[in-house]
Amino acid sequence: MDLEREFERVVAADHRIEPRDWMPEGYRKTLVRQIAQHAHSEIIGMQPEGDWISRAPSLRRKAILLAKVQDEAGHGLYLYAAAETLGADRDDLTARLVEGRQKYSSIFNYPTLTFADVGVIGWLVDGAAICNQVPLCRTSYGPYARAMIRICKEESFHQRQGYELLMTMMRGTRAQRDMVRDAVDRWWWPALMMFGPPDEESANTERSLAWRIKRHTNDELRQRFVDMSVPQAEKLGVTLPDPKLAWNAERGHYDFGEIDWAEFWRVVKGDGPCNAQRVAHRREAHEDGAWVREAAAAYAAMRERAA
Ligand SMILES: [Fe+2]
Ligand SMILES: [Fe+2]
Repeated sequence: MDLEREFERVVAADHRIEPRDWMPEGYRKTLVRQIAQHAHSEIIGMQPEGDWISRAPSLRRKAILLAKVQDEAGHGLYLYAAAETLGADRDDLTARLVEGRQKYSSIFNYPTLTFADVGVIGWLVDGAAICNQVPLCRTSYGPYARAMIRICKEESFHQRQGYELLMTMMRGTRAQRDMVRDAVDRWWWPALMMFGPPDEESANTERSLAWRIKRHTNDELRQRFVDMSVPQAEKLGVTLPDPKLAWNAERGHYDFGEIDWAEFWRVVKGDGPCNAQRVAHRREAHEDGAWVREAAAAYAAMRERAA
């Protein structure tokens, strides 16, 4: 009883819950699920852009893309480590991912068809990730909040590099501009879906807000992202593929059209263009890495014997 009161006092005061502290089982479970899904998204998110590393159009673009994809691997690692502080087992989390028992962001189930997709992913996908993640720097669980601070710094670099890439392409040839517009058309709606289902259908939102895991609802964050993206699209010289997009002076926000939630649920449930490919690729990479894990474990055991 005292422990529960202490937990609630810490959360209400906007202080952090740390691994040593007592916490309700539901809080722990919600966090493990959210952090694991987040970690899986970072790792699976390496694939769509990773496809372009060997085909980047210049040494400079290749170096940038390599660094960006490596950052995503690092984000996955910080987050798996944060989940471990809650008692989660890393092997178990990986098994859940490769066996399709745990989800990751549905955005990574779409293909990257041209190099412009690399720019649009940086601009819109990393941009949406930033909207989602900046408030998580103040989430109530200490290790998660601290991981997010570092991740957000890198995400803002990702977003800038994507936007700069697109700006360069828009100053290029007609064919390059067409490529950018086509990529924006394909990624805009899936990017809006990254914020999750509408508030009235989001089962966990209320609980997560009460525990201060989440700080804003899905629809609030989605609106923030739309408001941020419209002027950026204008500056870039592209039209976002939504005829209903219009400034609403009364609300002080942009209105936008209806999201195709049937598509969202279809992709989340496994039937997106690349779901099977992404998970199969991850499973193969995990199996190929078995010797590295064995060698690391053998080395650690040897060091322990020597000590
Ligand atoms: Fe990331
Ligand atoms: Fe990123």
